[in-house]
Amino acid sequence: MRDGTINTMKKTVLVLHGPNLNLLGAREPAIYGRDTLESINARLRTLGEELGVAVEARQSNHEGALLDALHQTGAAGGAAAVVLNAGALTHTSYALRDAIAAIAAPVIEVHLSNTQAREAWRHHSVIAAVCAGSIAGFGALSYALGLRAAAQLINEQASS
Ligand code: DQA
Repeated sequence: MRDGTINTMKKTVLVLHGPNLNLLGAREPAIYGRDTLESINARLRTLGEELGVAVEARQSNHEGALLDALHQTGAAGGAAAVVLNAGALTHTSYALRDAIAAIAAPVIEVHLSNTQAREAWRHHSVIAAVCAGSIAGFGALSYALGLRAAAQLINEQASS
């Protein structure tokens, strides 16, 4: 900090999971793996400690709730960056695209599966152009890589 005091307040990364991701572990395990959402979140919280950021994980099956969570990043004490798996809304939701464009916090798009290797309708992401970057195809590791990118972006913001 400029006044010479040490800022011990950790910045928060919001890990936001969209529709159907609450079913992870049981949902099409050949594609999405056997990890449950809670086990992925727990591992991300541990990785967050290593990276010096607090991890807040949320899941919703409702588009509006995801928009609200993104808008809240602008509130006092709101998340400094977002790791977002928007599920199928990735391919369809202009409202989500506009919410990401509207907020200051960088958003990292993540997918468990390699969407480019699947059905043609999954090849296009309507949110990719307004995200800081995209990571797909590494299973639960996609989230961990997304969290590392988020922590890096936060550090760069803090030192600029
Ligand atoms: C997904 C890919 C999307 O196409 C799909 O609709 C999902 C999950 C993934 O993590 O691989 O729900 O985002």
